Amino acid sequence: MKIRRSIAVGALVTATVGALTVGPALANLTYRSPADQSLKQLGARHDLYIGTAVNTDLLADTSDPTYSQIASSQFSTVTPENVMKWEVIEPTRGTYDWSKADAFVKFAEKNHQLIRGHVLVWHNQLPKWLTDGVTAGTITKADVRALMKKHITDVAQHFKGKIWQWDVVNEAVSDPWETNNVIKLRDDASKGFWYNNYGPDYIADAFRFARAADPNALLFYNDYNIDAFGSTGADDKAQFVYTLVKDLLNKGVPIDGIGSQGHLSTRYGNFDPLQIADAQNKFASLGVATAITEADVRSLMTDGLKAGTDNDVNTAVQAQAANYSALMQGCLASPHCISFTVWGFDDKHNWTTTTDLGSGPGGEALAGIYDANYKPKRAFNTLKADLAFSGAPYVVDRIKQRPRR
Ligand code: XIL
Repeated sequence: MKIRRSIAVGALVTATVGALTVGPALANLTYRSPADQSLKQLGARHDLYIGTAVNTDLLADTSDPTYSQIASSQFSTVTPENVMKWEVIEPTRGTYDWSKADAFVKFAEKNHQLIRGHVLVWHNQLPKWLTDGVTAGTITKADVRALMKKHITDVAQHFKGKIWQWDVVNEAVSDPWETNNVIKLRDDASKGFWYNNYGPDYIADAFRFARAADPNALLFYNDYNIDAFGSTGADDKAQFVYTLVKDLLNKGVPIDGIGSQGHLSTRYGNFDPLQIADAQNKFASLGVATAITEADVRSLMTDGLKAGTDNDVNTAVQAQAANYSALMQGCLASPHCISFTVWGFDDKHNWTTTTDLGSGPGGEALAGIYDANYKPKRAFNTLKADLAFSGAPYVVDRIKQRPRR
């Protein structure tokens, strides 16, 4: 008896010493650094899909294999940055060009990635024949109604069974600074194309047409500047979108998700993780899934930032990581947030580098999680840490969303 006990104690001592500082229960677990795992592997801990927008020209660029390598290895879902937009799919009226979008789908399938389809109804990147025709009066309002239905039906049918989430309607709602602090459906000359030419029922119809064409895709309303709720009054875009979707659901419109784009800039106050978590949970309380669909965090290109001065670079890099992290933590906080997608991953190709976002092309930039030479930035590792160092009770497995019938 005495001998046996001393053997048992000896075994315990050995196990404890062998595991050094970890207790006996964890003795067999080796610490695998998040640094050695991909974003998609870390996301899978929570059933959360991690995505990126993909530029198909860069996929095809054999002089830059790193782009494809990162796009295929770090992400479990992909969104076509441009090639499913109307101007690309139907450049000439009645003639479809599926080539680029089909190549994109092939890439995703080869890499076992789920696809966020983007985008069926938006006021930007429409084909010229459509906008010019409407301006000239050769395309009537009745034509516009028939054309939208045909577009949604043909595109959703072409990709039927291949799309996980469709952005059915994009950016239908105004910003407070555009409409005197009273949010409404966009109805101005440039961004109100659908409202003005189809009529206010375009949103409900778009979702119904999409559902009829592809019954199994999750159908999303997608917008920016809805990361957090504010006053919940007339000037609150998140509140407007919440009410819009709530009313449509009450009418039986098949909306399965709300996508928050997450285009942020370090020059603004933006939001903390708790505010974003609240928004994700409030949207989800409608019975829909949520997703962060186009995350990027740009910085105003000060002279110091352009010159690479430590003071400006460090400030931007840290602020950027904090904002990406707020979006990720907000998403993790709701089990209904099923994917977190960045809008491109590197600084060289990010759209903010070439687009005028209020301060001229390139006036705001450095929005990616990799630098222009594909070196991971602080934000990349911060996202990994958020995914790795989280779990119950606040972060639990994602809840699968089923398409509404
Ligand atoms: C952007 C693309 O990244 C650019 O390449 C293109 O020139 C313009 O559109 N919100 C959206 C996306 O829903 O489709 C936009 O993508 C970025 C803003």
